[in-house]
Amino acid sequence: LLMKELFGLGELEQELAVKFGLSEVVIVPGNADQSLAAKKALGRAGANVLLNKARPGDVIAVNGGTTVAAVAEMLTDSPVLKETIFVPSRGGLGEAVELQANYLASLMAKKTGASYRLMHVPDQMSEEVYRSLMNEPNILDVLKVIRRARIVLHGIGDALAMATRRNAPASLIAKLREKKAVGEAFGYYFNRRGEIVHRMQTVGLRLEDVHQAEIVIAVAGGASKGEAIASVCRGGSRDILVTDEAAAQSMIHLL
Ligand code: G3H
Repeated sequence: LLMKELFGLGELEQELAVKFGLSEVVIVPGNADQSLAAKKALGRAGANVLLNKARPGDVIAVNGGTTVAAVAEMLTDSPVLKETIFVPSRGGLGEAVELQANYLASLMAKKTGASYRLMHVPDQMSEEVYRSLMNEPNILDVLKVIRRARIVLHGIGDALAMATRRNAPASLIAKLREKKAVGEAFGYYFNRRGEIVHRMQTVGLRLEDVHQAEIVIAVAGGASKGEAIASVCRGGSRDILVTDEAAAQSMIHLL
């Protein structure tokens, strides 16, 4: 607290909360784009928020990416988290294995002693495969667990950076540009007003399920993500944001 007051981050946290209608904001010093220490601090702060909010019996849905991986790294054994279940928020989105939601859910469970459920669905599928998967008892079973998540913990990406990282086809990149997508979270792409301009075809949490969750924790930082974080916050409601000083400064200067 003392450090925060010294650097004036407490005030910035208040301003961001008001500007974006967030229930809580935690800002760590630095710029995660450039500093590994800032990325680790984001991870630590995200892990702390999760620890403070979790209750025994919770289902905790997580998405993929390097920031959620940083949160996973900071998690340790805890009596409360031991009694929770980690699940991936969505099926495959085209990420490298160690950045996938499935992998991070299992890693978080391993670190905390919690349980986990995985959802094995392909990254790309036809309408037919999608329909038949939705009739698979196994998938339906996990889906039921995922949709009762009390807590959703997710990263946020720059829209075009995410599409490129996931090897999206040129047609999708063109669509995202045309629709002015700036942010991405769990397979949904948002414009600067927080409207959905594209959703990836995969199984898992729908945006309405995210809005139903009692606690939504977004963890994302770095100067380059200011617009992306703002767009996803505008699309959400009363969420908790864990970010860094560089992203926060960029968000506060947006119109
Ligand atoms: O959906 C957003 C991405 O998971 C963010 O990934 O944390 O590696 O930037 P990142």
